[in-house]
Amino acid sequence: MKTLTVNLGVRSYPIHIGQGLLQIPELLTKHIRGRQVMVVTNETIAPLYLDSIRELLDDFDLASVILPDGEQYKTLKTLDSVFTGLLEHRFNRHCTLVALGGGVIGDITGFAAACYQRGVAFLQIPTTLLAQVDSSVGGKTGVNHPLGKNMIGAFHQPGCVVIDTDTLNTLDQRQLAAGLAEVIKYGLIHDAGFFTWLEQNIERLRARDEQLLAYAIERSCSIKAEIVAADERESGRRALLNLGHTFGHAIETGTGYGNWLHGEAIAAGMLMAADLSSRHEWLSRPDVARIENLLRRAGLPTSPPEAMDEAQFMELMAIDKKVVDGGLRLVLLKAIGSAVITGDFSAALLSQTLSRAA
Ligand SMILES: NC(=O)c1ccc[n+]([C@@H]2O[C@H](COP(=O)([O-])OP(=O)(O)OC[C@H]3O[C@@H](n4cnc5c(N)ncnc54)[C@H](O)[C@@H]3O)[C@@H](O)[C@H]2O)c1
Ligand SMILES: [Zn+2]
Repeated sequence: MKTLTVNLGVRSYPIHIGQGLLQIPELLTKHIRGRQVMVVTNETIAPLYLDSIRELLDDFDLASVILPDGEQYKTLKTLDSVFTGLLEHRFNRHCTLVALGGGVIGDITGFAAACYQRGVAFLQIPTTLLAQVDSSVGGKTGVNHPLGKNMIGAFHQPGCVVIDTDTLNTLDQRQLAAGLAEVIKYGLIHDAGFFTWLEQNIERLRARDEQLLAYAIERSCSIKAEIVAADERESGRRALLNLGHTFGHAIETGTGYGNWLHGEAIAAGMLMAADLSSRHEWLSRPDVARIENLLRRAGLPTSPPEAMDEAQFMELMAIDKKVVDGGLRLVLLKAIGSAVITGDFSAALLSQTLSRAA
C-alpha cells in the first residue's frame, strides 16, 4: 500500500492506494466521527461492494442510501433524497458519510456532507479510475444545474481517501478510458516525463496491468495533492486542473448529461485547448499530434460532437465558472508539461478552433 498526504493544515488527510484495501477496516474507522455512518452509493455499485463495506463497518450504526446511477441524477433532487435518508434515520451532527462509487457519488455525497447540519464528516471510497485519480481528492463537491455543470456546490474535504485498485476489475473499458483522460491531463499540465511514460505504457494500462495502474494513480494523486495543497480554493494555480474542462463542460451540457462521459468530453476539450495553443504558436504542431495520438490510443474521442457549432460552444462556455468579470479565461498549453491560465488569447483564433478551421 502507498500512502500520500494532502497537506491542508488541520484538514490534512491521507490517500491510501493499493490492492485489497477494502478488507482493512482501520483505514476507514480511524477517520469516522461518531457512531452513525451513512454509506451513499448507487444501484450499480451496491450489489458489487456494499456488503464488503457493511462487514468492514459493522461496529457502527450503519445505514445506506442507494441512488439511481448516472450523471443525469447528479441533481438537487437526488441530493434531497440523501438528506431524507439522513433525517429518517435520525442522523445527528456527529455522523459520517461514506461515498462509495465514482465521481458522481463522490460529488453528491461530499456536498450532502458539506450541507447536512451545516457540515459533517465524510470519507471517499472511489471505485472508478476517474474518481481515484481526480474527483475523490481535493474537496470539490456539488451537483449540476440544467443550465450548467457543477454550478451548485461547496469545498468540503474528506477525512480520508481509500483507493482499492481491485475495484477497477469490475469497471468497463469505456469508463477506464474516461479515467485515463484525467491521468493524461496531469502529464499535460505538470509533468512532461509522466506524459512520455504514458506514451510508453498506454496499451498496458488499458489492459489493466495492476502495477502500472497503481503507479498512474499514485502519480496523478500526488500531482493533484500538491496543487490542491498550494491553492485549495482555486484562487490561482488549481485552475490548471481545468485543462480542457471549459470546452468539455460545454460538450457535456450541450449533448445532455450522461451521453458523453466526463472523461470523454475532457479528452476532446484538451485537444481543443491544444489546438488553440498551437494557433497562438505556443505549442508546436508535432506536440498537438502527440497529444491527439495518445488520446486516440487511450480509446478517447479527439474531436467535439459534430452537432455542436461555434455559437453553441460560445453560449455554453460563457456560463462556465472560469468566466471572471465577463472575460473568458482558458487553460492553455505552453508545452507538454506546462500550462497557463489566461484571458489573453485571440478571439479570432478561438473562433477558428471552435469552427474547426483547417
Ligand atoms: N470533484 C472533483 O474534483 C471532480 C473532478 C473530476 C470529475 N468530477 C465529476 O465526476 C463525475 C464523473 O465521475 P465518474 O467518471 O467516476 O462517473 P460515474 O460516477 O458516473 O461512474 C461511472 C459509471 O461507473 C459505474 N461504476 C462505478 N464504479 C464501478 C465499479 N468499480 N465497477 C463497475 N461499475 C462502476 C457507475 O455506477 C457509473 O455507471 C462527473 O460528474 C464530474 O463532474 C469531479
Ligand atoms: Zn475532470
